[in-house]
Amino acid sequence: MSQEHGPTVAHGPRMVAGRYAILNELGRGGMGIVWLAEDTMIGRHVAIKELHLPEGVPHSERTTFEQRVLREARTAGRLNDPAVVTVFDVVQESGATYIVMELIQAPTLSDVVKERGPLPADQVAKVADQLLSALEAAHQAGIIHRDVKPSNIMLAANGRVKLTDFGIAQSLDDPRLTSSGILIGSPSYMAPERIRGEEAGAPSDLWALGAVLFYAVEGYSPFERATTAATMHSILSEVPYLTRGQGALASVITGLMINTPQARLTSGQVRGLLGHVQTGPVTGQTMMNGGTAYFPHGQQTHALAAAGPKKKSINSSVALTLAAVLAVLAGVGGYFLSSAINTPSSSDTYVAQKFTYGPNGDLGDFGISDGYCSESKLQNGTSFDSGDDCKKPFYFQVYGYLEPTNSSNKFTYAGDELKELGDRYCAWLFKSERVKDDIKASLGYAVIVPSKDNWDTDTSDGGDRTVFCVVLDKSGKLLDESQITARS
Ligand SMILES: Nc1ncnc2c1ncn2[C@@H]1O[C@H](COP(=O)(O)OP(=O)(O)O)[C@@H](O)[C@H]1O
Ligand SMILES: [Mg+2]
Repeated sequence: MSQEHGPTVAHGPRMVAGRYAILNELGRGGMGIVWLAEDTMIGRHVAIKELHLPEGVPHSERTTFEQRVLREARTAGRLNDPAVVTVFDVVQESGATYIVMELIQAPTLSDVVKERGPLPADQVAKVADQLLSALEAAHQAGIIHRDVKPSNIMLAANGRVKLTDFGIAQSLDDPRLTSSGILIGSPSYMAPERIRGEEAGAPSDLWALGAVLFYAVEGYSPFERATTAATMHSILSEVPYLTRGQGALASVITGLMINTPQARLTSGQVRGLLGHVQTGPVTGQTMMNGGTAYFPHGQQTHALAAAGPKKKSINSSVALTLAAVLAVLAGVGGYFLSSAINTPSSSDTYVAQKFTYGPNGDLGDFGISDGYCSESKLQNGTSFDSGDDCKKPFYFQVYGYLEPTNSSNKFTYAGDELKELGDRYCAWLFKSERVKDDIKASLGYAVIVPSKDNWDTDTSDGGDRTVFCVVLDKSGKLLDESQITARS
């Protein structure tokens, strides 16, 4: 640029908006360059992101894009969370858009992991906590980030986290821009529903958060593949395997990466679980959020109600952990408590009998596998050793199951919570496509949970902690064909 001015003009720094002096390049991404600059008016250093739309985008779409960036950046600029990179100014000048923001002198999560490998779980939990706050603040303000990924997260040495690039991706996702078919960067952190063409929502950001946390604990991006198509395919079809994350953090990560947005953990649930990963003190707010999030209708059990910050004792915190883990493992099974939020009460509409099975339970043994049927009636005192193949008339069919925890865990048996959990899971699954529509109106479901003695017996001694869902005729009649569809 300066050559145009001829040799007699001193080579001062390039100025943007007559105010920002461009000093050095800080980095480059799919859409442009990030500069270190000086705000000459205030005399402070800032970072400036210079955005150029790809060649070939028609003029009208450029204008739409520019207006959108302005609007989004302004909205993002109003966010006031310590983990959000502050946007100071947006400038449009000679065909480019400049986003002037807080300079963060810290490496990105991407840099840190590339250099040092996977991060320790307690550190990841602290990162998760701050990112979650940033996303909660944004979502409450109606902003979806849309580009949560390791290179948009800065990690300062003091443990503080900063999330940047709010709303910029959104500006590009405008349907009016899609005719240009712009796909900037890699979709490795793009939630499955977005790949399926659905609107991005708060759950899409949370999915990306899950993938980011996976990256931080495992040291590699779970869905990154050689080509964009392969990446998208793996997001839609693969379940990444965690080797390093454990306990509540693993539950958070897996629960966030659930394919169906409705089944994914909410930020409130994540917050509750994170309270159990952190090595530092758990704040009262964390405990409160955790306690209420799982039972949005105020159906807290005694265990949860007792787990408030003031009454926190060793016992109550164990109870809360169990509830949290139950909630999340249920999520992994494709279920999510808040899916029941939209449907006031599962038992209003459907028959929901609940049985315990195993030693001293309502039923004897229960050994019917998923998809199989029983030619014996579901009633107290009956044992169900193995299932029938559903070819002959049957009384009920197993259409789902959950393994809330394995028998090596010391979690105390909580029969009512198990029934509650099972009821919500079974209700959701019953209403899903898993159960055929043909005669659904005449069907109901029952929930079968382990008895206390079953729960307390080691698997090697025949103990079982599985929760089963069975579908049956509401009026107890025999059914003559399988009522379920395949899981895909
Ligand atoms: N506010 C900022 N302060 C300091 N460095 C930044 C800032 N924003 C971005 N960067 C640096 O610029 C690089 C490029 O950013 P960007 O263009 O958003 O691409 P990407 O996010 O895909 O890496 C980032 O990886 C980061 O190192
Ligand atoms: Mg970025």
